[in-house]
Amino acid sequence: MEKTVTEAITYRRSCRVYKDELIDITKVKQCIENAVLAPTSSNLQLWEFYHVTNKDVIKKLAVACFDQNAAQTAQQLVVVLARKDLWRQRCKANIDFLNKAFDKPDLEDRLVKRKKMALNYYQKLMPFTYIEFLGIFGMLKFFAFQVVGLFRPIYRQARLSDMRIVAHKSAGLAAQNFMISMAAIGYDTCPMEGSDTLRVKRILDIPRSAEINMIISCGIRDDKGLYGPRFRVPFETVYKEI
Ligand SMILES: Cc1cc2nc3c(=O)[nH]c(=O)nc-3n(C[C@H](O)[C@H](O)[C@H](O)COP(=O)(O)O)c2cc1C
Repeated sequence: MEKTVTEAITYRRSCRVYKDELIDITKVKQCIENAVLAPTSSNLQLWEFYHVTNKDVIKKLAVACFDQNAAQTAQQLVVVLARKDLWRQRCKANIDFLNKAFDKPDLEDRLVKRKKMALNYYQKLMPFTYIEFLGIFGMLKFFAFQVVGLFRPIYRQARLSDMRIVAHKSAGLAAQNFMISMAAIGYDTCPMEGSDTLRVKRILDIPRSAEINMIISCGIRDDKGLYGPRFRVPFETVYKEI
């Protein structure tokens, strides 16, 4: 039986040593299917997941992960990518979806309005937000928005670096969905940013424009898999009720 959300969240720990025991590829894939249900900025879904089950490839990736135990002993790896570069395709997918979803005769006025607004968002606002040229356009937008921001609230995250953060934020949420789903079925994970991303990209033939968000090792925790008790700073130091 699957754990409850709280049970899964509590069970999840970063596991550094896995048992030499196979885990089910289909179950891991189902957890990746849960990952893509995570919320995502503008529903652009600027992510991709490479599910590595081939032992030889895992070995090569473990070297690129600096031979960390969490990678060396992993049964499978999931590489989470931020694909900011795919914004045009994802805008088009949203536009196609909207055209289909609202393709009804005698559409109510309020739905006609909603469709128009949503199409406008993906046809005009998103291209304006994501279009870039060497970071220059983003900088120009950023400074223009700071000026407008003197007079009214405005979205300020317009630079190239801001847009990269936007894509990584959503990818991180998907990664967490994945790890909690794995925990729910008694599988363990370890998120890793400690890797030579250039080598990882070469091994997996990942396009240059894609960015590695994190690599998640997967397996079943060994008795020595957790390096210590969980540590968190006191809750009161991070919680502010206003
Ligand atoms: C983005 C990210 C990157 C991380 N990279 C590594 C890593 O490269 N190697 C590693 O052993 N743990 C890595 N961790 C795991 C953290 O060290 C771990 O989450 C933290 O110590 C808290 O422990 P817990 O996950 O067991 O609660 C990473 C965690 C996150 C969220």
